[in-house]
Amino acid sequence: MQNIGIAITGSGSALPATFLDNQALTKLVDTSDEWITTRTGIRQRRLVNQSESLSGLATLASQKAIASSGISPQELDLIILATSTPDDMFGSACQIQAQLGAHKAVAFDLTAACSGFVFGLVTAAQYIKTGVYKKVLMIGADVLSRWVDWQDRGTCILFGDGAGAVVLQANESDRLLGFELKSDGTQNKYLNLACTPEPTELLPGVHVGKGNFQPITMNGKEVYRFAVQKVPEVIDKALFHANLTVDQIDWLILHQANQRILDAVAQRLNIPEHKVISNLAEYGNTSAASIPLALDEAVRQGKIKPNDIVAASGFGAGLTWGAAIFQWGR
Ligand code: COA
Repeated sequence: MQNIGIAITGSGSALPATFLDNQALTKLVDTSDEWITTRTGIRQRRLVNQSESLSGLATLASQKAIASSGISPQELDLIILATSTPDDMFGSACQIQAQLGAHKAVAFDLTAACSGFVFGLVTAAQYIKTGVYKKVLMIGADVLSRWVDWQDRGTCILFGDGAGAVVLQANESDRLLGFELKSDGTQNKYLNLACTPEPTELLPGVHVGKGNFQPITMNGKEVYRFAVQKVPEVIDKALFHANLTVDQIDWLILHQANQRILDAVAQRLNIPEHKVISNLAEYGNTSAASIPLALDEAVRQGKIKPNDIVAASGFGAGLTWGAAIFQWGR
C-alpha cells in the first residue's frame, strides 16, 4: 500500500439559538441549579426547535469547516455523518451533501453514539490511507433533545444539541498518529435509545411491529464507572500506537459528558488541568458533536495551534469507546 498521510485541515461548528439553563429546568423536574452544577458541571444547553433540523445544523458546521480548510464543497470525495439522531432513519448525510452542493461526494451516516466522532474520524482516515479518497468531510451532530424524556431528571439535565465538523485530507506526513476503538455490547443495557415496536396485527396471523422508540434510558452510576475506567485505558493504548508518552499531549479533548468524568480521567492520566478542553458548562452533552465542537472552539480561540498534539476520546452508548491522537493542521 502507498504511504499516504492524513491531515485535519479545518473545523467548524454550529449551535441552535435556544438556551435552556438549569434554573429553567427546575420548572420541568424536581432538581436545582446547585445539584446539576456540582454533579455535572453543566449550566445550560442549546436546543433545536421544531422547525430546525439535524441536517441544517450539520450543514452550517460543515460549511465553516470547508471554508476554514480552503477547499470547495465540490472537491469533497466523501461525507461521513456521525449521528444517532438523524432527521431521516434512512440517513441524513445525503441531505447534507445536497445542501452543501457537494455533488461528487458519496455520503453516509455512521452510528456510534457519543463515540461517533472518533469512530468516524478513524473510518474516514482508512479511505484516505488506501488512496481511494483524498478529501473527506467528517461531521458529528446530534439533537438528543428529541429523544430525551423531559420528565426524567436523571437524564434530561445532561443533554444538549449541536454539530461540529472537520475536513481530512491526504497529506505528505501522517498527522493521525494513533488510535484505538472498543465496543462492548454486553453493557448495552446501561445506556440506550431502544426501538420498542408496537405489536400490530396486519391480517389474521400476520403480526408486525410498528416503529416506536423509548426515550433515552440510562444507569448513570454504571456509565460513570465505565467512563472513568475505560477512557484512560484507551487513551494509553492510542498513545502506545502513536509511540508517544502522555506528557507529549498538548490538549485532551474528551467527549463532554460530565466535568467530574473529565477531571477523573485527566487525574488518572496525570494530565494537568490547563491541557483539558472543557465547554460542557455551556452546551451539556451534545453526543457525537461534543468533540468537534470543543475542538473547533479551541482552534478558533487560538488555544490549539498548528502542530499541537491532541488526544481525543469518545465514549458512550453501545457501549463504545475510542481514542485518536492527532497533530493539528498540515
Ligand atoms: N436533581 C436532583 N436530584 C437528582 C437528580 C437531579 N437532576 N437526578 C438524580 N437525583 C437524585 C437521585 O434520585 C438520588 O437521590 P436518592 O439518593 O434520594 O435516591 C441522588 O440524586 C443521587 O443520584 P445518583 O444517580 O446516585 O447521582 P450521581 O452522583 O450518580 O449523579 C449523574 C448522576 C447522572 C450525574 C452521574 O451518574 C453521571 O454523570 N453519570 C454518567 C452519565 C453520562 O455521562 N452519560 C452519558 C455518557 S455518553
